[in-house]
Amino acid sequence: MATNSSSTYDRKTIALHWGSAALILILWTAGEFLDVVPKGTSRITVRSMHICLGLALGIALAYRIWWRNHGGTRFPIDVRVRHQKQAQMAHQVLYAVMGLMVATGVALVWIRGDNLFNLVTVPAFDPGNKDLRHSAKEVHGWIANALMLGAMLHAAIAVWHHAIVKDGVLKRMLSRA
Ligand code: HEM
Ligand code: HEM
Repeated sequence: MATNSSSTYDRKTIALHWGSAALILILWTAGEFLDVVPKGTSRITVRSMHICLGLALGIALAYRIWWRNHGGTRFPIDVRVRHQKQAQMAHQVLYAVMGLMVATGVALVWIRGDNLFNLVTVPAFDPGNKDLRHSAKEVHGWIANALMLGAMLHAAIAVWHHAIVKDGVLKRMLSRA
């Protein structure tokens, strides 16, 4: 059940929000710069860490959605305030795109096959199919960029609320008063 009596989100919701945002930034940076890492053990280690952190994001996301529906703070929509419905829809899109990142990441590991820390081998689904591997990586990369753009817009709106509208929306995601 949602708790709306407080003026801020609960600690768990705040930790999950900022933890996920940090993970996404690390994942995006590691994914974008993977090709620059020397081939061999170094690249295998970075890719393996990317995969493990991606799976951690998936677990955090599943828990976050569960917690949101089982006790996490939710603020009611005030229909008199402009754009609240759109803001809620934008948040739902962010959740969906995070889910898509995890789904396409897992699919990519399965399609291209992988070697985690030189310890675990994941066999490729169709080893000879280079086009499929290339397309799967492209799709994962495009969605990653879309998520980053969406997150930057979302952050800019939060800062605008804080600095211009001064309605305390950013503060309620920062700490328990
Ligand atoms: C928000 C989460 C994630 C972000 C932002 C992200 C970002 C990226 C980016 C930007 C790339 C490079 C794509 C390109 O060069 O076109 C990449 C590659 C990759 N990602 Fe992710 N990723 C995420 C989650 C995951 C997950 C959950 C997995 C697997 C469980 C995964 C597995 C991979 C693999 C295997 C590659 C390809 C590496 C290679 O080709 O050497 N990613 N990721
Ligand atoms: C990858 C980065 C990020 C993602 C994926 C993300 C995602 C989300 C999502 C899904 C929500 C809705 C929470 C809910 O009601 O269930 C949310 C809320 C919020 N986010 Fe982010 N966020 C990110 C980064 C940021 C940053 C950098 C800021 C601030 C500069 C920020 C500020 C906020 C605020 C203030 C709220 C509460 C909005 C409200 O109560 O109406 N977020 N975020």
